Amino acid sequence: MLEHDDIQGLVFSGYARQRFARYWFVKLPATGAAAWLSRMLVRVTSGGPSEHGAERRCNLAFSVTGLEALGLPEAALRTFPAAFLRGMAAPERSRLFGDHGDSAPERWDFGGTEAGRVDALVLAYAPTADALDEESDLIEDGFERFGCEAHVEDAYLAEDFRDHLGFVDARSNPRLQSLWPPRKKNRYDLAVPAGEFVLGYRNADGHVTPRPRAPWRASTRSLPHRVDARRALDLGRNGTFVAVRKLAQDVAGFWRFAERHASSLWPAARTDDAQRLAEHLVGRRQDGAPLVPPPAGARVAAAGDFPALNRFGYRDSDGAASLCPFGAHVRRANPRDSLGDSAAPSLKAVRKHRLIRRGRLYGPLFERAAPDAAERGLLFMALCADLERQFEFVHAAWLDNPKFGGLTHERDPLIGVPARDETERTETFSLAASPFRRQVTLERFVRVRGGAYLFMPGLRALAYLAEG
Ligand code: HEM
Repeated sequence: MLEHDDIQGLVFSGYARQRFARYWFVKLPATGAAAWLSRMLVRVTSGGPSEHGAERRCNLAFSVTGLEALGLPEAALRTFPAAFLRGMAAPERSRLFGDHGDSAPERWDFGGTEAGRVDALVLAYAPTADALDEESDLIEDGFERFGCEAHVEDAYLAEDFRDHLGFVDARSNPRLQSLWPPRKKNRYDLAVPAGEFVLGYRNADGHVTPRPRAPWRASTRSLPHRVDARRALDLGRNGTFVAVRKLAQDVAGFWRFAERHASSLWPAARTDDAQRLAEHLVGRRQDGAPLVPPPAGARVAAAGDFPALNRFGYRDSDGAASLCPFGAHVRRANPRDSLGDSAAPSLKAVRKHRLIRRGRLYGPLFERAAPDAAERGLLFMALCADLERQFEFVHAAWLDNPKFGGLTHERDPLIGVPARDETERTETFSLAASPFRRQVTLERFVRVRGGAYLFMPGLRALAYLAEG
């Protein structure tokens, strides 16, 4: 069974009741980092039942430089996976994500250079702006006392949970299943073995994902489980990896693009053609409903019924992609049953590449009726047990793959990675528009402004790290 009390709460919940959030990307001091963490421990909230009623939530994660600052020895650091050790701004990762030009790490607000180094990420969530300020005072007091420097980002969920483009977000997140295979099986269920997200449990392959170890210390008060005969401790158990990306969106540009192209796509013009095109680019309706019908015999989804809105596949209902384009953001990000020759192996393979998304908006909410030029976007956050197999795979092999699903020269229409050089053809987006399939030339609406890979330890592991 999952040890909820030892797992940070963000793994289980997007904190929908705590709409206001503040993120600190922290540079820890050369000395005293462990003492700072020790003081922070009481603030960290878990996913245990005792925390369910908590008004405020706080979670913590560390990069490799942060773990170093906390005194974790080199041999222990080497037990972490390569992607985490290299970091999101490493040159090979920039090539993988297309982070160049105005998205290059040198231009990021955090995480891209030594000046913007991220050792730790402190996340605070509260139901009101005042409650968030109170929590922030306590957290910032600790920064001051221990000499931490921080880059701050305010993030929030809109009241109706829509993103800047007007789409209801975070409809589709996997459901953690500690017993695998689940007793009640639904082919299109979002259940995924817990080990895909929390270290120390079985993953979709039936294995326990390798996890970092730390040396045994005589002083250790809170022992994570021992994993081997050398008395190394299981530092990874109940932890998860976090990928953060600050994605600035040109929302006004997105709607100008949709309005310009929509008028030429469908013969019978409708007033909502721009919205119709936007929904095809995303692959869902703005209210979160899928573009494809639910499988035959499935319970009809009630409005707001998240799991029901997610029990669908593409193979039987839309194999030719006439309802939801092959290149639509959600069809790329989670191809469900549509990979390869049959549904079952596809669903099984896709289960190994799922993400828990905990992104929030930054910048003022965009009003389509009154567009402005303010900076806004998504503080994207994904949690997973294996950064390479999950986050990097979804980004590079599905979203940013020009040959995805039999397409050529197409890339994800939302994250919009720019061409790497002039020899690359302009990207298009194909959609089934009556009477013929049509293509629109994509533009770019997103610029990367920050990023980091972090490890969010379990609570006992945090206590261990605080011993320095
Ligand atoms: C500014 C950039 C982005 C925007 C505006 C955006 C927007 C959306 C929207 C509107 C949805 C549908 C609602 C939902 O299921 O939550 C969605 C789903 C999703 N997105 Fe994004 N997204 C962005 C970036 C990313 C990135 C960088 C990734 C991963 C690397 C990603 C992965 C996913 C996944 C996995 C889903 C769920 C698909 C499903 O299960 O059907 N998104 N996104």
